Formats: sequence, structure tokens, C-alpha cells
Amino acid sequence: MCGIVGGIAERHLAAVLIEGLKKLEYRGYDSAGVALLENGQIARAREAGKVALLEASVKISKIDGSIGIAHTRWATHGKPTQDNAHPHMSGDVAVVHNGIIENYQELKAELEQAGYVFLSQTDSEVVAHLVHQALQQQNNLLKAVQAIVPRLHGAYALGIIDANHPDELIAVRQGSPLVLGLGIGENFIGSDQLALLPVTNRFIYLEEGDIVRLTRSDIEIYHQGELVSRAVNELDISVSSSDKGGFKHYMLKEIYEQPDAIQHTLSVGLDHDQLKDDFLSSGNAVLPAIQHVQIIACGTSYHAGMVAKYWCEQLIGLSCQVEIASEFRYRSPVVLNNTLFIYISQSGETADTLAALRDIDKRAAAAQKNIVSLALCNVPTSSLVRETDLHLLTQAGPEIGVASTKAFTTQLAALMLLVLKLGKINGTLDDAQEQELVQALWQTPKIINQCLALDKDIEAMSRQFVEKRHTLFLGRGTQYPIALEGALKLKEISYIHAEGYAAGELKHGPLALVDNDMPVVVLAANDFMLDKLKSNMQEVQARGGELFVFADEHSGIANSDRQHVVYIPTANAWIAPIVYSVPVQLLSYHVAVLRGTDVDQPRNLAKSVTVE
Ligand code: G6P
Repeated sequence: MCGIVGGIAERHLAAVLIEGLKKLEYRGYDSAGVALLENGQIARAREAGKVALLEASVKISKIDGSIGIAHTRWATHGKPTQDNAHPHMSGDVAVVHNGIIENYQELKAELEQAGYVFLSQTDSEVVAHLVHQALQQQNNLLKAVQAIVPRLHGAYALGIIDANHPDELIAVRQGSPLVLGLGIGENFIGSDQLALLPVTNRFIYLEEGDIVRLTRSDIEIYHQGELVSRAVNELDISVSSSDKGGFKHYMLKEIYEQPDAIQHTLSVGLDHDQLKDDFLSSGNAVLPAIQHVQIIACGTSYHAGMVAKYWCEQLIGLSCQVEIASEFRYRSPVVLNNTLFIYISQSGETADTLAALRDIDKRAAAAQKNIVSLALCNVPTSSLVRETDLHLLTQAGPEIGVASTKAFTTQLAALMLLVLKLGKINGTLDDAQEQELVQALWQTPKIINQCLALDKDIEAMSRQFVEKRHTLFLGRGTQYPIALEGALKLKEISYIHAEGYAAGELKHGPLALVDNDMPVVVLAANDFMLDKLKSNMQEVQARGGELFVFADEHSGIANSDRQHVVYIPTANAWIAPIVYSVPVQLLSYHVAVLRGTDVDQPRNLAKSVTVE
């Protein structure tokens, strides 16, 4: 999604802002631009395509300045062209915008009436003209912005400069993430603190509705017109944790980081052979009343929720529903009393997930239902964490690759911890079960390391997918969501059409697609569904289909002419979905590399989906 970086300093900022944009590339974008103010004039460069192109054009045109705003745009209104790239200008005003201005058409009509000429198809350009218009009434940039913000409907973040106000930068957070970075004699804005890590480790996380005036030496934050103060957070996260560390792609690095990331996530909740007494103790007062679980998430996080549904119902007998946020939020869901709502989001900024949370909180209050909200998130400072009752944080570290890997497997590890906690609290998990699961969890990093050692075999297997146009992924039980996740990974980064299916559904449709040319990937863990799955594999073979199987080493599934097997070390059946996630990630990764796609930033996709 769109990314914003801006700053006001004594020094020249072009290089800093471009570097910041590079750190935001992972979010997904299709054009980029920068505006810099020097000697009372704003110079601007914009390019369709990558930040590298913008960097080259800034070098050639030698534009620079000590106040600037920069942007990566992920097209929503209008194609990814140079004219539609930000910053947008109106006279001496330049604006970068993240989010959507929902009433832009009405505002545009009004501005055109007033004589403004629009040079782009974006919703964002209205902001530049509105600020310009307001400045005609009062020559005060902060006041002009404060005057127009109530007119903008939607969720957005803004960075605004004006050539006639050379000592200030104005920023707005209204529904889209924006942080302030505090330097010495210089201050910055960014949609993600990662963009600002090269210049500071001191951040202020703005609240919705904050309007900020940044000068070189000061920051004034206004909320509903009043000057307010916000806490300064010092981060010890290093710049290098967001580097590729010798790997060809972030995605591969992040796949290899999984044993450590899972170990760290487990350490939050586990002692030697049991759940820590103080794990999620903030929930001790409210969780005993819980009778239902409702999980809400998008994309890969939704698949993590689907696995948790099996765990919740089969292990501890607690009813559990899972739904994608974009549907849930619009279908007027009935809120059951005593429900735990689990919102899963690695970023904690996904627009649909946040909207579902806000909607449910309102509905529950109106219907006087007892509910508890819990964020399962990788970003402690995110909106989701700030707006929920309870928080369970994955310890994945920054994930840069758009296709989620370590964020997913750490979500699974954390969800198992949560299921253990709920089972203990409601008395449906006995000590022996707890011990068995805890021991199995501790084994996971080791088994994943063994899976990573299979990388060469999986790479060899991946060659057989390069020329294919479609792929089926099959699994049963807890491997069904992993089949969905495998298919999602493959389509996201290799652009091969892939579908995940519960293998029992084969004969209700997808079997019609099976032929010589349709590879079928099967996840065959050693669980109680294995025999059923073997029958489904027979159905594929009987139709001339070719099977690519990740099979438990003791599954009895043999290699043959049309059945290619990579053997996976045996894992406890409950933990197996975490383990089998890794080979499907590696398979998709290698297919994508062989097809020459942009693995870390696949076309049309964004890491953090901050608009609907
Ligand atoms: C985007 C990302 C996915 C992610 C999904 C949900 O589509 O590309 O990797 O799973 O958003 O994101 P969240 O931050 O809410 O987990």
C-alpha cells in the first residue's frame, strides 16, 4: 500500500527520503515521487515504476532541499502513471496521501467550479487544492489544514508542505498509519517506523485525528484543536534486522528465520513442560466466562485462524468460527454473549480487520453483550493492538517480503499457546495433554530446521511447475488450511493459478480439472486423516494426474513414476500444520525464482493493506 516519508532538517534530505522509500518498498507500490523545498521553491520528481527510477531521476535533476515529502503509490484511483504519482501540487502546496478520500468526487466538482484544474485521476489531488484554497483565506499552513480535514471523508494519512511556509511540515493521521521520528534538530514522518530507522530510533505513534506541525526543533500535536502530548518510544530494533543478510530475497531469509522466530514466540508462553503461570495473565479475569471464539482476519492470517478452529474445537471443545474480515464486517453479524473475538493480523493495520473490530465493539455495546477482543499481532505499536482488550504478540521480527512466511508460522505457534491457555482456564485440557503439546511445540524449531535441510530436494521438485499454468493443493483436517496457504503463496509470487482444496471435496468439482498438465500437491502428515487422504490421492492417479507429495517419513507413501515424494520428518499431528507450511513456502519460492518474478514485491500486491 502507499507509503509516506517526510522530514524537516538542517541538512539536505533527498537521499534520506529516497532511502526511506526503499524501506517502504516491501509494502507494495507501482509509482514513486518526492517534493523538496529549497530557496522558497518546491521541486518535484515522480516516476511510474520502482524507487530506483526515481532515485536516478532525482540524481539527474539534482533536486534537493531541507524539507521534503516522498511517497510510494499503490494505485487505487487512476492508473500507475507519472501524472497520478504523488506528491500532488496546487500552486506552492505539495501533498502526499495514503488511504482513500471517499467524497473526492463531490469535492472535485466543487473545486472545478472554483476554477481549479485537475491534472491527475487520483482522489488525492483534491487535498492539495483544498489546502491551497484555504491558504487564500488565512496564510497559516497549520490552520488551513485544520480547516479542511473535517471535509475529507475516509481513512487517510497526509504529509503537506508549502513553499511559502519554509519552516514547517504538516502531517495528519486519520485512519491510516503514520509515525513521527524524532531527531536532533530534525524531525520526520513515516507510514512505518522501518522507513525512519536509518535516521532515528525515537518514535511517536499518532492517534487517529491527530494533526501535527513539525519544525526542525519541535513537534506540536493537535487533537480536536487542542495541543496534546504523546509518549515517545525508543526502539532497540536495528536497521540490520530489516536487511537481506546474505540471502537472495527477503522471503528466503524470512523462511530461514522461522526456527528462531517460533522459538522466541514459544518462549513468551512456555516453561519447560507447561504453560507459564503468567502467560496472558491480563485475561485471567475475563477468559473464564468465554463460551465461543470468533476469529477474524485476512489473507494468510485468515489461514492461521482456520488451523486454530480445528485446535480449538478438537482439543478443548470450545466452539470456534473463522471469517475473513471483509465479509464479516458487512454482514451484520449476530454477537453471541461471552465471545472471545480474536483479530489476527501481522501488521495490525489491515483496514478490513480494524473495521470489523470497531463494528463488533459497537454492536456488542449496543446489545449489552459480554465480549473480549484479543489482537494476535506482530507489531506491538499497531492500531489493532492499541484498540483491543488483550494482546498476544508474535516474535517474528520485521517481515519485509509481501508473501507472509515467518509471520504465519509464528501466528500458528501463538494460537496454539492461546488454545492451551483457554483449555487450562476452562478445565478442558488435562496435565498430560498439556505436557504432550508443550513438548511437541518445543520440537517445532528443530523439525523446521530439518525441513529447511530439504531445500535442494524441494528446489528440484519446483522445476516441474515452472511451465505449468495451474496447480491444485490438497490437504485434510489441519492440513486443509495449509493447502489453501500453499496455493496462496504460489499464486502470489509465481503468478501460477493455484487452488487449495480439502481433499474430500475433490470429487465435487476439481477432479474434472485433473489431467496430465495439472500438478497436484498433497500434504500428507501422519494424522488420523492419512488413510482418507491416500484414497483421494488414488482418485487423482486414476485420472492420470501427477502427484507432488510432502509426506511424513512413516506415511508409507512411496515414490513412483507419477508420484514424487519429499519426506518430511515426523511431527506430532497437532503441530504438523506449522511444519508443513515450510515446504510449501519453499516450493512457491523456488518456482517464482525460476519464473523470474519479483519475489519480494509481487505485482499488484501490498504488504500492509490499509485501504478497503
Ligand atoms: C496482505 C499481505 C498478506 C497478508 C494480508 C493480511 O494481503 O500481502 O501477506 O496475509 O495482507 O495482512 P495482516 O497484516 O492483516 O496479517
